[in-house]
Amino acid sequence: MKIGVFDSGLGGLVITKAFIENMPEYDYLYYGDSRHLPYGEKTSGRILSYTLNAMRYMISRDCRLIIIACNTATSIALRYIQQRFLPAEAPDVKVLGVVIPTVEVAVSGQAAKIGVVATSATVRSHIYRTELHKLNPSLDVLEVAAPELVPAIESNNFARVEEIARAYAPHFSNCDSLILGCTHYPLAKNYFRAALPEVRVVSQDELMAGKLADYLCRHPEIETELTRGGSRRFEVSSLSRYAQKVAARLFPEIPVQKSAGA
Ligand code: DGL
Repeated sequence: MKIGVFDSGLGGLVITKAFIENMPEYDYLYYGDSRHLPYGEKTSGRILSYTLNAMRYMISRDCRLIIIACNTATSIALRYIQQRFLPAEAPDVKVLGVVIPTVEVAVSGQAAKIGVVATSATVRSHIYRTELHKLNPSLDVLEVAAPELVPAIESNNFARVEEIARAYAPHFSNCDSLILGCTHYPLAKNYFRAALPEVRVVSQDELMAGKLADYLCRHPEIETELTRGGSRRFEVSSLSRYAQKVAARLFPEIPVQKSAGA
């Protein structure tokens, strides 16, 4: 039984890299629904339906634990998956998202005002504000959508990524912390940090491996079911030359393949 990591594209490979570096013994299946990217600019109905298809596919490929690395899919689909889909279709499988681990880290400092930069769908869902307020109702939360960032990162145009990060940074200059609430944004974190030297920038690639290790310690019933063959397989629903290039930068030794399902 594998650990599955799901994203709308290849951005989730960034946290997958952190998982594999920290917990190399497990078997991993990465699945990126690149055919439907970007989720962040789609309707909630579509995001839910694509995410459910991906869950079915990954479960059919023996994933016992799935981490939805995509913030947009976490925002729109995770609650439905946990409360309705899994009990009906796969009661033994666990599916986790990235929002709660991220807000736990974000509130751990002395922050009074927290900024969130994310896709349009994530901001529209207000999931970050809701979850932050569960932990600290008096927090001032500012959520801002940056729809230009994912396309710039996807097209490998890092001069443009820097320009966009600089343009959005002033929104957050009086925040104590800034959550980068999107799979792709760890690739822009240095630009945000350079533009906002006084702000603590919370980046999921730096926190998710620790959170997953902690989860596995607290859930031996799942951990003991995971196989430890050290295998990795990276699949996408649509394979472009660009996707291969991005993946090769992160994992030169592991090819990204077109998935047969989903
Ligand atoms: N994976 C998405 C997220 O984390 C970003 C890319 C997209 O819009 O599909 O929100």
